[in-house]
Amino acid sequence: MSFYECKSEIEEGDIVVLYLGPQNMHSFEVTPKILNRKDEMVENVFQTTYGAIKVPSLIGKKYGSKVELSRGWAFVLQPTSELWTVTLPHRTQIIYTADISLIIHLLELTPGSIVIETGTGSGSLSHSLIRTIRPHGYLYTFDFHKQRVELASAEFVKHGIQKFVTVSHRDVCIEGFGDDLQHKADAVFLDLPHPWLAIEHAVKTLKKSGGKLCSFSPCIEQVQQTCFTLETAGFVDIRTYESLQRELNVSYKNVPHLNLDCLKRKHSSDEVLPKKSEDQDKILTVTHAPSLPGHTGYVTIATLPPLFARITQDK
Ligand SMILES: C[S@@+](CC[C@H](N)C(=O)[O-])C[C@H]1O[C@@H](n2cnc3c(N)ncnc32)[C@H](O)[C@@H]1O
Repeated sequence: MSFYECKSEIEEGDIVVLYLGPQNMHSFEVTPKILNRKDEMVENVFQTTYGAIKVPSLIGKKYGSKVELSRGWAFVLQPTSELWTVTLPHRTQIIYTADISLIIHLLELTPGSIVIETGTGSGSLSHSLIRTIRPHGYLYTFDFHKQRVELASAEFVKHGIQKFVTVSHRDVCIEGFGDDLQHKADAVFLDLPHPWLAIEHAVKTLKKSGGKLCSFSPCIEQVQQTCFTLETAGFVDIRTYESLQRELNVSYKNVPHLNLDCLKRKHSSDEVLPKKSEDQDKILTVTHAPSLPGHTGYVTIATLPPLFARITQDK
């Protein structure tokens, strides 16, 4: 139950996040023993850039504690959707937090929303979707890769969130989302190489009162074809965004006084360069982070009007 409920103490079987810094985190299961390469059960020791930690030593520790590594220290945290996104085992390309937050906002998800997602991939987005729609909502997520379906299902069980999600093995572009889901969903999310092939199926699953469809694509040609198909299928208010996250650092810096006296020249040949005095001012500064994350994908959002409005439009 690591993801669903707030816990104070670490128990055997929990997934924990070892936080060494904002760019240096790991998640792993707290198990006393693991299989080594020779298929022998050995003590579970986790290696980091600041040395090793014996995993069983975490059992009974408070979440948020500072723990010793053999060459430093780290904080041990309970996982959140955000921490999972940056530490999860990658089985596919994943969606990151800047895009996830935009997707959840554009789909207008709330606790209670019924959402369809495909493909499940590594489950990065799924964890954030579940956290947003629980406890009364539900996520139906689909992937045509059998092993990814099995691994995602097992992860949801391990994370204690299985009662909010069903993972199904299916090619949604060919088979659609199934009769059971006809007119059940508030929102559909597509992260597929050919999203336009799933749009007609999505229309059948959105509620008769209408709903939202969001598609994530890395290439603009995919976006063009998706937008064209969305319009043909009766969607309105079709918009595409690119979310570029730009981090700013706000910090105090010691800045030397400019000594204007030294600007006065005794002779015209003297150097005019201002000299720095020994005095310094502590100034609150704002600088951009040294690197700017680049393009990830385009987020297209569209609204399906209520069925009666679509029929009226057709007349
Ligand atoms: C980029 S990954 C999705 C990553 C996911 N959004 C995440 O954040 O972890 C795309 C997934 O779509 C699946 N997929 C591709 N075409 C599909 C189809 N026609 N039906 C179902 N799944 C499909 C792939 O197997 C892959 O796992």
